[in-house]
Amino acid sequence: MGYHYSVMLGETIELLSPKNDGIYVDLTLGRGGTSEAILQRIPNGHLYSFDLDDEALEESRSRLEQSGNNFTLVKSNFAYFADRLREMGVTKVDGITADLGVSSPQFDEANRGFSYREDAPLDMRMDQNNPLNATIIVNAYPFERLLKVFKEYGEDPFSYQIAKEIVRQREKKTIETTGELVDLIKRCKPAKELAKKGHPAKQIFQALRVEVNDELGNLRKMLDSFDGLLTSGGRIAIITFQSLEDRLVKEKFKSLTVVEGSREDVMLFPNQIQEAPYRPLTKKPLVASAEELAENHRSKPAKLRAIEKK
Ligand SMILES: C[S@@+](CC[C@H](N)C(=O)[O-])C[C@H]1O[C@@H](n2cnc3c(N)ncnc32)[C@H](O)[C@@H]1O
Repeated sequence: MGYHYSVMLGETIELLSPKNDGIYVDLTLGRGGTSEAILQRIPNGHLYSFDLDDEALEESRSRLEQSGNNFTLVKSNFAYFADRLREMGVTKVDGITADLGVSSPQFDEANRGFSYREDAPLDMRMDQNNPLNATIIVNAYPFERLLKVFKEYGEDPFSYQIAKEIVRQREKKTIETTGELVDLIKRCKPAKELAKKGHPAKQIFQALRVEVNDELGNLRKMLDSFDGLLTSGGRIAIITFQSLEDRLVKEKFKSLTVVEGSREDVMLFPNQIQEAPYRPLTKKPLVASAEELAENHRSKPAKLRAIEKK
C-alpha cells in the first residue's frame, strides 16, 4: 500500500500530448499516477509500463484497470526497455516518459531501508532480486571505493571523514542498520554543520542508493537506446531529482537537438545544412509550480526536460 504524489504530472502529460491511438511507454510505473493519466488519453492505443519493484507492479495493476485494459506491465530494469519491447514485437512508439528515483512508498516503508528517519536494515534496493544492497557496500567496499561513491554521488563535504569512520567502525562490528549509519555520520560532522537545514545523512544515503541501484548506469543505457524506437513526431519527457541525473539527460538531449559545429554565421547551401534529429520542447528544464510545492515538498528538486523527434 502507499500513496505517491505524481510530480509535475500535468506538465508531463502536456509535453507528451498522448494521441488517442498512440503507443506509449512509462519507464517508471511507481504507484501508477503517470500511467493512469496516459491511459485515460489513449482509449485506442496501448501503454507499456515498466518497474523493477514487485510492489509497484502489484499495487498499480488494479488502479490502471479502472481506466482500461489496453496496458502491459513489465517487470524490468528500464536500462533494457528497448530490448524488452522488441521481444514483445513493439518496434515503434509515440512517447516515452520517466519519473526517476524512488517512490514515496519505497522511501516511507522503513523496512526498505531508504530512509534516514527510520531505523531499519540497511537495504535500499529498488529491485528485491538485486544481489547488492547498502549493507554490503558499507561493510565490504574498500576505503577508496567508498570515498569515491560518497564524493561523486553524494557530494558530501565530509565524505572522507565518514568513509574513514565506517572503516574504523566495521572492524569492530558490522554496520547493519540505517540508525547505526545515521549516528556514525552525525559523529563525523561538526555541530555547525549539524545545525544546518536538511538531514545530515541525506547526501550519504543518496550516494548509497545511487550505487546500490546503479541509477546513473541504468539512466545512461536508457538514454542510449530510445532513439531507434521513437516515431517521427514521437516525444520523450524525463523528470530527474538530482544534478548528476539531470546532467546526463541534459547532455543527451543537447546532442540530439544541436548539431555540433553548426555555425549560424556561415552561409550554407541547403544540401550542406545538417539538421539535428530532434527539437527541444523545453528550452530550460521545467520545475514544479508554487501550488505543487505547497502540496508536495518532494517535488522541489524535480526538473523536467523533453524533446521531440523530427
Ligand atoms: C518516482 S517513482 C515513479 C512514480 C510514478 N510516476 C507515479 O505517478 O506513481 C519511480 C519508480 O521508478 C522505479 N525505478 C527506478 N529505477 C528504475 C529502473 N532502472 N528500472 C525500472 N524501474 C525503476 C522505482 O522502483 C519507482 O517505483
